[in-house]
Amino acid sequence: MVVASAPGKLVLFGEHAVVYGYPCIVTAVNRRMYVEVETNGTDVFHMDAPDVGLYAYSKTIADLGGEGLPKGVRFVEEVYRRFLDAHPQKQGINVVTRSEFSADYGFGSSSAVTVAFARALTELYKVPMSEDELFELCYESVLKVQGVGSGFDIAAAIWGGTIYFIHSPRLIERIEVKTLPLVVGYTGVKADTPTLVRMVAHRMSQKKELTIGIMEQISQITQRARVALEASDWKMLGGLMVDNHALLKKLGVSSDELERLVEAVFKVGYGAKLSGAGGGDCMIGVGKDMEAMKQGIEMAGGKVLPVELQAEGVRLE
Ligand code: PMV
Repeated sequence: MVVASAPGKLVLFGEHAVVYGYPCIVTAVNRRMYVEVETNGTDVFHMDAPDVGLYAYSKTIADLGGEGLPKGVRFVEEVYRRFLDAHPQKQGINVVTRSEFSADYGFGSSSAVTVAFARALTELYKVPMSEDELFELCYESVLKVQGVGSGFDIAAAIWGGTIYFIHSPRLIERIEVKTLPLVVGYTGVKADTPTLVRMVAHRMSQKKELTIGIMEQISQITQRARVALEASDWKMLGGLMVDNHALLKKLGVSSDELERLVEAVFKVGYGAKLSGAGGGDCMIGVGKDMEAMKQGIEMAGGKVLPVELQAEGVRLE
């Protein structure tokens, strides 16, 4: 039996712009997805994902893929189908997943499970793959299932740490950050990333110049944020968060809940912004007084998520 795990992620800067070829900065969080895989001597793919209510899912490996797959299995099944296309095998597998974080937080449970499963597969069948090849396999699978996405979350799950990411031509650079003293607040509202990405795409088609202008400003902020992170200049980072958030608001992806939390942290810290696609999920903030920022989040109706950042990338357990 092989067990692999991969971390979730939080976008720090550059969300949405990254879909259009601009950079983003993403950090891995210390909530992991664990995937156990073993061959089962039959031609059946069998999966349990109790965290998402999926029990005893099974089908023959010849029937993998197709439309209307249950949510908990889609990514894993697509990776497996692609893997078997390239490296045919006779024996099927049993898969069990275990999550350390609620899928509601938007920490990227899909990308983490995809990467952890792909890594476990390559180990189980002894098919060596470079990290770049692993990225391709996972990214293609996620795109097939989800239709949209830059792949930044896959990069965070594979490489871990804090990463400067450009979708195309692909650039993945580790940023050396000593500490990352951010607060993370959850709005309590689950956001649907593909819907928000499509919303921005619609905006791009309607108001192209204006939207590209916003993306370019976000890109400049992201590049300056990299400098601030490397210098541990938290005041500068906070200011950049405020600017980035204002542009995301202009894109129309903030929400009342996000505004309340961002405002509350901004009042007592250096700055705050939404993190991810928007519409809900999480926000991040930076400042001197951690306790005051945490209190601000709670008072504004949010939940403080005690996560550590810059977690290790995919690994065998
Ligand atoms: O909602 P999240 O945390 O998965 O972040 C989405 C980030 C986007 O830039 C909006 C989409 C993407 O795939 O890059």
